[in-house]
Amino acid sequence: MKIVKTIKEVRDQVREWRKEGLSVGLVPTMGYLHEGHESLILKAVKDNDRVVVSDFVNPMQFGPTEDLATYPRDLDHDARLVENAGADLIFNPEPEEMYLDDFSSFVDMSTLTGGLCGKTRPIHFRGVCTVVSKLFNIVTPDRAYFGEKDAQQLAVIKHMVSDLSYGIEIVGCPIIREADGLAKSSRNTYLSEEERKAALVLSKSLFEEKKKIEEGLKDVKTIVSDIRTNIEKEPLAKIDYVEVVSWPDLKAKETVDGQVLCAIAVYIGKTRLIDNFIL
Ligand code: PAJ
Repeated sequence: MKIVKTIKEVRDQVREWRKEGLSVGLVPTMGYLHEGHESLILKAVKDNDRVVVSDFVNPMQFGPTEDLATYPRDLDHDARLVENAGADLIFNPEPEEMYLDDFSSFVDMSTLTGGLCGKTRPIHFRGVCTVVSKLFNIVTPDRAYFGEKDAQQLAVIKHMVSDLSYGIEIVGCPIIREADGLAKSSRNTYLSEEERKAALVLSKSLFEEKKKIEEGLKDVKTIVSDIRTNIEKEPLAKIDYVEVVSWPDLKAKETVDGQVLCAIAVYIGKTRLIDNFIL
């Protein structure tokens, strides 16, 4: 397993693999890897001859008041996890390698990015689409892997790949959770012991409502209000949004029919956590 810092090194390596006729998978990450990331890497290793994991805290997708400066980083830990999972290359560029001083081209999307996380994070998806486009151009993978944990991101990337005719298969992977249900996230490290307990309100309220929907509940207003009421019982929690939308086109729904995404974002103290289910 190799760690490289430059675009040129990635291109040279991928060119060698291509000469041998090998397929290439890409797992884009911001590092501080956990079992959620690992599940994507393991799937990529299964599906492809060679796997690149990008490990880059992308400044462009953080708003001015967000946690770019404090975002957790640990390349040694990441390297061990990537190597054990069987991937071949970590691409860990400095921001200057990805964004030259005169950087001025962006990938922006006029649908899918306005609602859900896009409401409170207005520049977020422009940053995600731009960096993922760059990674696609640098690595030129056959397949790229994204978690359903960030369901809106997965929908946005699939749409971008279709709009811009990237010949890349986008593979969505299920949410990996802690034993008690909390969705694994690099941001869980921000939580104090008390907040960690309070954070369970996200998965608990979702699981409870999913069961009700499976038993026949269809009215979206009732679903949203049930989840809100449950979350509001937790004093450390402050709701950003609770929404039920169609999947994967993220349109408003009044009743549950066809595939739906039920997604929530909740502040636990200062930490913003997201969770969802797709039915
Ligand atoms: P990051 O938050 O590091 O996540 C990298 C990938 O891991 C994403 O596709 C995310 O959905 C997936 N992931 C995170 N937690 C997961 C979990 N508990 N179960 C399953 N998958 C999980 O998402 C990003 O980075 C960035 O926006 C990125 C796409 C790398 C662009 O900068």
